[in-house]
Amino acid sequence: MNELLRVEDLTVSLAGENGPRRILDQVSFDVRPHEVLGLVGESGSGKTMTSLATMGLLPHGARARGHIWFEGRDLLTLSERDMRLVRGSQIAMIFQSPRSALNPLMRAGDQVARAVRLHRGLRGKAAYDAAVELLRHVGIPDAPARARAYPHQLSGGMAQRVLVAIMLACRPKLLIADEPTTGLDVTIQAQLFALIKEVQEETGAALLLITHDLGVVAEVCQRVAVMYAGQVMEIAPVEELFARPRHPYTERLMASILRVDRPAALDSSAALAPLPVLLDTPGCHFANRCPYVKPVCWQHRPAPYRDSEAHTVICHQYPAGESP
Ligand SMILES: Nc1ncnc2c1ncn2[C@@H]1O[C@H](COP(=O)(O)OP(=O)(O)OP(=O)(O)O)[C@@H](O)[C@H]1O
Ligand SMILES: [Mg+2]
Repeated sequence: MNELLRVEDLTVSLAGENGPRRILDQVSFDVRPHEVLGLVGESGSGKTMTSLATMGLLPHGARARGHIWFEGRDLLTLSERDMRLVRGSQIAMIFQSPRSALNPLMRAGDQVARAVRLHRGLRGKAAYDAAVELLRHVGIPDAPARARAYPHQLSGGMAQRVLVAIMLACRPKLLIADEPTTGLDVTIQAQLFALIKEVQEETGAALLLITHDLGVVAEVCQRVAVMYAGQVMEIAPVEELFARPRHPYTERLMASILRVDRPAALDSSAALAPLPVLLDTPGCHFANRCPYVKPVCWQHRPAPYRDSEAHTVICHQYPAGESP
């Protein structure tokens, strides 16, 4: 097996007012060592929940079925104690809001130093000096002074850099970055993506990058998984997905971004009529929006169709199995 992470038929339900509500439905994809896999899909499609499940951080009361294989172990079967050993040292996550991921009562340098102590075995002043060096390494100007700052004294971009420094200290095998630049201004966003990519290359970690920005996907990712309403619809190498989308949802997504009068963001795909999302049907969740819908689409989830070695689409338009 040539993968680092393999999510297999992951189905997650949350407790709702009218009983359990399914928010992920048989999600399957893999992340290979050292690659950057983009995870895209409109708001609410389940990108964050997929990454939280991988980190063992689903909300209280959530039920997960399926498998999350990481280096041969199924993370869904690990105890909280074992999962804590995986988090940070094997898999690390950068969240949507960096300040809430940092401890507000602890100075930035001390937070990085803690990670250095835990994961690099240094102690005392040596750990702190290494932490300041890491802050400098991630491009924080005047690192010794910034190390003494509390998170609320840092800008969003600086706080995100502190998180990247913590990640560097941990040297994980898999990085998950969930919309890491939301709310930051455009130049800072570009710098942060460059930094994350640099860190990924430097550490040899694989990166699961969640973003709305298909421009970033085109620039940074090797492959992309497209989610819609809790299901993965298509996985393909970046160039292929842009040039030859196979799933009707991806087709629409690409058509909507190719219009020059709209920004290249998924949420602007107003081409989609405001129909309720189908979460509790046994079939394809895109059925009520799909121009090619057939009766079977309402009844059964299609089996994956492998168009080529790296291109998989999950749609009844294609026969199950391999491309002839
Ligand atoms: N804490 C929560 N409790 C209950 N439901 C939640 C919670 N967080 C998210 N959800 C629901 O789970 C589903 C998936 O949400 P998720 O946050 O994973 O989407 P997303 O793809 O990350 O969206 P976005 O692009 O807006 O970040 C949505 O239907 C959402 O309403
Ligand atoms: Mg999210």
